[in-house]
Amino acid sequence: MKAREEDLDYINYWQKRYASGRTSGVGSYGANAEYKSSIINEIVEREGVQSVLEFGCGDGNQLTYYRFPRYVGLDVTQEAVDMCLAKFADDPTKSFRCYTPGEHLTLGSFDMTMAVEVLMHITRDDDYFLTLQALLDNSLRWVVLIDPLWPVRKYEKGSHEKHRELLKFLEDLDDFEIVETRIHPSATLEGRKNGEIGEMASDFLLLRRLGA
Ligand SMILES: C[S@@+](CC[C@H](N)C(=O)[O-])C[C@H]1O[C@@H](n2cnc3c(N)ncnc32)[C@H](O)[C@@H]1O
Repeated sequence: MKAREEDLDYINYWQKRYASGRTSGVGSYGANAEYKSSIINEIVEREGVQSVLEFGCGDGNQLTYYRFPRYVGLDVTQEAVDMCLAKFADDPTKSFRCYTPGEHLTLGSFDMTMAVEVLMHITRDDDYFLTLQALLDNSLRWVVLIDPLWPVRKYEKGSHEKHRELLKFLEDLDDFEIVETRIHPSATLEGRKNGEIGEMASDFLLLRRLGA
């Protein structure tokens, strides 16, 4: 699919953002980072997850909150990968590399894949579905998504976010089932379905591979 004329070049957006010294955003710091990591650490501990592949590691601040036995972080920008390489240079359990949507990954197998406030930033539809597919293809068992499950922000020309009907895409998967969703405490289920943004636009969703 060709990028629509009004689609922002989202990769360029993040490259420039990091190159100018800005961070992954308020969602990756402070209370938001604590909230996201509390849920993910709980799942990892509860399910005995040993290995995690993350799409969109960002600047690595959020990553400092997680407790993962083994971790590989991917990002569409080399700038983010470089920041993480520097930040975790002394941590042999973590590695990082650049990712291009659609590329075939041969990084081994992972108990869990995840994308935390990443899908909402993929403005190109083809890249969005390729990344979603890669999250599924590279997981042995669990897929964690933290993202708007319903569109809470209307897509505007040039925006660096594009919200979609994520829940709908995930309801009828052949190989995975939705086992858990959690709406952010600042919002309600009904509100979300009507586009309520709350203090954070993203909710939590856990998929499990059928038969795994
Ligand atoms: C808002 S930041 C979130 C970073 C991190 N997940 C967190 O929670 O702090 C979004 C990151 O996703 C990256 N990104 C966007 N599209 C991506 C894709 N298709 N695959 C991998 N990374 C992507 C961006 O470069 C950016 O670093």
